[in-house]
Amino acid sequence: MADLRKLFYPDSIAIVGASRHPGKIGYMILKNLIEYGYRGKIYPVNPNADEIMGLKCYPRVSAIPEPVDVVVVSVPAPKVPEVIEDAGKAGAKFAVVISSGFKEVGNVELENKIVEIAHKYGMRILGPNIFGYVYTPAKINATFGPRDVIEGNVAFVSQSGALGIALMGMTILEKIGVSAIISIGNKSDLDDADFLEYFADDPQTKVVIFYIEGVKDGKRFIEMAARTTLKKPVIAIKAGRTEAGARAAASHTGSLAGNIAIYNAAFKQGGVLVARTVEEAFDWVKSFSWNPLPQGDNLVIITNGGGAGVQATDTLADFGIFLKKPPSYTVEEVKKFVPPFASLANPIDITGMAPTEWYYKALVAALRDPEVHSIVVLYCHTAVTDPMGVAQNIVAAIKDTGIRKPITVSLIGGKECYEAIRYLTEHQIPAYPTPERAAAAMAIMYKYLEAREYVSKRLEEISKE
Ligand code: ACO
Repeated sequence: MADLRKLFYPDSIAIVGASRHPGKIGYMILKNLIEYGYRGKIYPVNPNADEIMGLKCYPRVSAIPEPVDVVVVSVPAPKVPEVIEDAGKAGAKFAVVISSGFKEVGNVELENKIVEIAHKYGMRILGPNIFGYVYTPAKINATFGPRDVIEGNVAFVSQSGALGIALMGMTILEKIGVSAIISIGNKSDLDDADFLEYFADDPQTKVVIFYIEGVKDGKRFIEMAARTTLKKPVIAIKAGRTEAGARAAASHTGSLAGNIAIYNAAFKQGGVLVARTVEEAFDWVKSFSWNPLPQGDNLVIITNGGGAGVQATDTLADFGIFLKKPPSYTVEEVKKFVPPFASLANPIDITGMAPTEWYYKALVAALRDPEVHSIVVLYCHTAVTDPMGVAQNIVAAIKDTGIRKPITVSLIGGKECYEAIRYLTEHQIPAYPTPERAAAAMAIMYKYLEAREYVSKRLEEISKE
């Protein structure tokens, strides 16, 4: 078992290959680390410089007068073994190797060599071939990605560097707060299972998401995923779902993406929720990150349009989730203000003429109704209503009742709806432009509860054997 505490809470970080030149990777990592606010000691290491960004520069790690916990390595691959040797001798605990030019291009020997050297000194390696790592509780942004990642409760682990770094930017755009972003690249030493093990018990992390091309040790991954699932959801975007995709993955990080049927069976055993696309994964992440888990299976849809309600119902059914009969208190409350032609089944259709305050009243009723466990709110844009008003009323209903139940929202229509979606996103209410996405983001919470139960039973049976 890897003890990753000093990787996440290091007292000091050295950047080997910290560059004097803006535009170079070693420059950017140092800049991000300083500017994101890491409060431990930062040591730039570069034999060709005396000072970088106002910090004294050292020619090598062993010349630093104090012990160093983490060494970020950004020098060309052939120089990495000597850096690891020196850092190991100096007592560093982790090397975060950014450099490319290892297993992914057939340089297996060089990769094995750095791991061998590191292990000789009890040092662990993250990478190589990575963009670095972020851990917001310790204010660490040791990447050459965007600086201002938002603090939150999502841990994101990516095998792909380029996609991971791009998604880092997307988390900022989508207002998704992260606890961690880890680029694991070639996984020469530390791998997915090590991070699962850490995040399972990390109180700062509520949901874990992986971009996976191939798993190194399937059995251990399943075991760690299962243990994590008992505590929090694990989402995977599995690259190489098709034969063509698997071939592309093999030439990317050198991973064997394997047979997708085998992966799906393994993911099921571990309770992992498999997203087909990045968009789907991010939709789900918002739902888990911002909502509490449902406390029962009575899901209610509130809509101003029959069609949107049907689409959402279909999507829920695709996930094996079926609406129950309408809850009596909510129906009685809604009856007081809707016209007689409103359909008060489930979905509850408050009609196309619904002004924004009807959303407020319907939502307040559903929030107060003990029979309602989760709510999907749908709005189809009409010229007589204002989506921003709907969004504001949704936020107000939650605030005024002080009750948090899982809620997902879809505002369907043009530009005004996008602005209202942004408003809800800023208030951490998962909101989407289509009813299917809102329904799926709710359905996945129920799928997680099923997965957790499945895993719990499976582990119980194993423990009896
Ligand atoms: N110890 C410390 N510093 C050293 C050493 C040494 N032994 N030798 C040289 N340096 C200094 C250099 O002088 C230089 O500083 P300067 O710019 O102030 O002169 C700095 O370290 C960097 O060395 P360079 O030789 O200039 O290397 P460069 O920055 O061009 O490249 C890098 C290094 C980034 C690691 C490159 O080899 C590499 O692997 N790039 C790919 C990285 C990557 O893509 N990673 C993974 C995936 S993420 C994704 O795909 C988005």
